[in-house]
Amino acid sequence: MNITVIGRGNIGGGLADLWERAGHRVLRLGRDGGDASRSEAVLLAVPGAAVEAALSSVTGLEGKTVLDATNLYGGARPPAGFSSNAEYVKSVTGGATAKAFSTNFASLLGRVAGARVRPSNLWSGDDQADDVVSRLSHDAGFEAVRLGDLSMAATQEGLAGTIFAISQSGLGEFVYRMAPPEEL
Ligand SMILES: NC(=O)c1ccc[n+]([C@@H]2O[C@H](COP(=O)([O-])OP(=O)(O)OC[C@H]3O[C@@H](n4cnc5c(N)ncnc54)[C@H](OP(=O)(O)O)[C@@H]3O)[C@@H](O)[C@H]2O)c1
Repeated sequence: MNITVIGRGNIGGGLADLWERAGHRVLRLGRDGGDASRSEAVLLAVPGAAVEAALSSVTGLEGKTVLDATNLYGGARPPAGFSSNAEYVKSVTGGATAKAFSTNFASLLGRVAGARVRPSNLWSGDDQADDVVSRLSHDAGFEAVRLGDLSMAATQEGLAGTIFAISQSGLGEFVYRMAPPEEL
């Protein structure tokens, strides 16, 4: 798959490395922007308050399937008129959109391939994004677990504070797994 990663930091760079190892071709874009028109999937991995600026510097996003990994901290809000960054992203691209990879620690990405069982990767978004989210989660070592449609992206963005609270309450950085009862 041809993938464009917007934001080549901890999460964007880390996922790009894993996807390249799985055989995908990844174009890594930073503040200078670029052209995403040849990609079949786009990962947005910039600071949550930089989403508008980041998308405005990238061409060829129309109709693209976008996986939005951004979180909003410290009172930061989505762009005016939107409940979530992910819904803003969809308003720009018009393509299938998912909030994904926002609830996993980038620092652990390099160890996920060696896990005894696949950790979960929560996502919320459009049905049309399901195949891409499932495949790219799998190819990064995770199993996608759906939280709901795109209207649940705001709920997912709000989980960042919970994730940090768990981490800071003794567990440290962690992976998680949500599994059906058949696995018990
Ligand atoms: N770190 C995690 O564990 C983690 C996990 C899940 C989700 N997230 C979320 O993922 C996003 C990125 O986090 P991160 O830890 O990867 O941050 P990071 O390491 O600071 O990387 C952010 C990247 O975004 C780029 N950037 C900033 N403004 C931009 C713009 N206007 N246009 C294009 N690129 C821009 C930065 O470029 P420069 O290098 O030029 O500054 C940098 O490469 C955040 O929303 C975060 O909440 C993080």
